[in-house]
This record gives sequence, structure tokens and C-alpha cells, in this order.
Amino acid sequence: MKKVLVTYITHSGTTRDVAEAIAEEISKTGFEAQVFELAEVKSTNDFDAVVIGAPMIIGWHRSALNYLKTHKAELASKPVALFLTAMSLTESPSPEMQGVDLHIDQKLITPPQKPGRFSFKESFTTLKHYLAPVLKAAPTNLKALAFFGGRLDMYRLKWYDALFVMLVVGAKPGEKRNWPDIRAWGASLPALLKLEEK
Ligand SMILES: Cc1cc2nc3c(=O)[nH]c(=O)nc-3n(C[C@H](O)[C@H](O)[C@H](O)COP(=O)(O)O)c2cc1C
Repeated sequence: MKKVLVTYITHSGTTRDVAEAIAEEISKTGFEAQVFELAEVKSTNDFDAVVIGAPMIIGWHRSALNYLKTHKAELASKPVALFLTAMSLTESPSPEMQGVDLHIDQKLITPPQKPGRFSFKESFTTLKHYLAPVLKAAPTNLKALAFFGGRLDMYRLKWYDALFVMLVVGAKPGEKRNWPDIRAWGASLPALLKLEEK
């Protein structure tokens, strides 16, 4: 049976829960899915495909980007999918992503206040701004990328993080995870990763 590694980084648990739901859905399609925190992953050699999830924390989580950069060669030998959790996404054109299936939870998107012109906050939360460093670091065989709503609890944050999230990202506290959307993407992953045979 083909094996999929679903690995994640999290600060407050949001992205771990998303990774677990995705792995559950992959398992339901007849493939084996194992979930590990990224820091625990020694090697991806035992897996036929890799899914990596991390939150937007002033850009996609730095450790996730570093992992992609340092494991580019290892990841190049298998299909890869990435997912991002975030609280704010301004409606904006998608960057060039040939051969990559881009999924966005439509409930996460908010239109810019003035059509065709982004404010400072909005320009910080466009697809292009978020994805440029991710796509630069991504392995050549990236097959799918998804954007999901996350969860934000200001009481858990240090004051300067809370200030950044409020003033720059413009995110309000709350729960934005859309479980049917997350689970549907998880169920579609074996096809997106082209894991046809069981
Ligand atoms: C310091 C900090 C920076 C953040 N930066 C962004 C951001 O740039 N864009 C965004 O949409 N959400 C941002 N968020 C919200 C997180 O992405 C969101 O809360 C996510 O669900 C956290 O996932 P976790 O619980 O797995 O760590 C930020 C949160 C924190 C604490």
C-alpha cells in the first residue's frame, strides 16, 4: 500500500488538527497516511508522497521554508503537496504556478476595499506576497498547494505578536477552519499526487 507522510508545523495546534483531518481523509481513500510534526521527521525515504502544512507567521513559517530549501533534492523524488493556514487573504491574482493545483478556501478571501488598489495591509496579504517565497523554495514536483483558514487566539500571543497580527495582517481573532473544505482537499490528494495504484 502506498504511504503518504502528512507533516506539519504549529504554534498553537491549529495546523496539527488540519494535518490530522487531511490524513484521515487520505486513509479513507485506501492509502496509508502517517502524521508527524516536521521536527520529528528524520527522512521521507519510506514515503511515496509528502504533504507539508504550516501556518502563516509573518510569511509561511520560517522552519517550513527552511525544510523545503534543505531537503529540495530528497523531496524531488516524490510528489509533494503543501498547505498553509492563515487568517487573512486579500482577493488578488494568482502567481504563475504551472503544473500545480491551487486550492483556496473561498471563505478566507476578502475583496480589497478599493477595487484594483491594495492598501498596505492588503498588499501584505495577497496571494503573490504569501506565495512568492514558498514557490521559490518548493521542490520541482510540487503538485498541489492549498490555503485554509486557521484559528487565532490573541490571549495566547505575546503582546508584540498580537500587535503585528492586528496592525499589519489585519486579522481578527476567531476560528476560520472550514472542515468540509479541508476534508474535501484531503480526499482529493491521492489523485492530485497521482498515487493511482493501491
Ligand atoms: C506572529 C503571528 C503572525 C501571523 N502572521 C499572519 C500572516 O501574515 N497572515 C495571516 O493570514 N495570518 C497570520 N497569522 C495567523 C496564523 O497564521 C493563524 O493563527 C494560524 O492558524 C496559526 O496556526 P497554528 O495554531 O498552527 O500555529 C499570524 C499569527 C501570529 C501569531
